[in-house]
Amino acid sequence: MAITDISHRFLAQGNVYLPHIVVIEKIIDETPGVTTFHFNFKDEKLRAEFTFESGQFGEYSVFGVGEAPFCISSSPTRHDRLEFAVQRVGKVTNALHRLGVGAEIGFRGPYGNSFPLDLLQGKNLVFVGGGIGLAPLRSLIWNVIDNRGKYGRIDIVYGARSPADLCFCYDLDAWEADKTINMVTTVDRGDESWTGRVGLVPKVLEEVAPSAQDTVAVVCGPPIMIRFTFPVLGKLGFTPERILTTLEKRMKCGIGKCGRCNIGNLYVCRDGPVFTYAQIQSFISSEY
Ligand code: FES
Repeated sequence: MAITDISHRFLAQGNVYLPHIVVIEKIIDETPGVTTFHFNFKDEKLRAEFTFESGQFGEYSVFGVGEAPFCISSSPTRHDRLEFAVQRVGKVTNALHRLGVGAEIGFRGPYGNSFPLDLLQGKNLVFVGGGIGLAPLRSLIWNVIDNRGKYGRIDIVYGARSPADLCFCYDLDAWEADKTINMVTTVDRGDESWTGRVGLVPKVLEEVAPSAQDTVAVVCGPPIMIRFTFPVLGKLGFTPERILTTLEKRMKCGIGKCGRCNIGNLYVCRDGPVFTYAQIQSFISSEY
């Protein structure tokens, strides 16, 4: 399966590291450590003209602190806003978490390739996500829902360590209510209020056992979840060419210049972040 190559259409002219100014318009606390930011360009022309594809990412900068890459987690089919989600793990992500509505940050992008919609159309789709790994998947899931007639059966298996770690609960509720989607939510450990399924994502996927016939699987989550999910998909009959994933590995510049994001002979920022399992299977266990 070929992966779509998208040119970097919105690079600031001249200096490729020069960001555009974007404004934080809404903040949603997903979990104690994960926040979603709605944002848009300060410049009206960019606001009107900016386009991206599901799977692409941007470089977001907090002035005076630094810059970090995150996927654009909203769907390009929903033009009223752009979104990205951040897990608080370091200097830049902590600075982002301290921002309020109205704050201005820098944005470069969109960068990277995207999910190959032309090849997904007409297929059944299985989405497998863990934790904040649902962020890039939800861009594609909403994209597919907004073009529902072009796709077959949809299964979504999503999990987190605990009920408090489930991200995008408003999406989970919407997909649960959608009768055209088989939504399965699970947690590794329940609590006294949890009445849903308990079990690790790969195990639950094996129990759900979606058919591999005319189906593409799209996987994103913690590395350990990804590693254990691929063999399950293999057992279910998915070939490595019919399994997609999106990686975020040590990216810095986002444009193929710093050499920080290599996985085998591929650069995640330039050759990905969307890959087929066939492309990465030879080094997935040792490098990711
Ligand atoms: S992030 Fe710099 S080369 Fe990929």
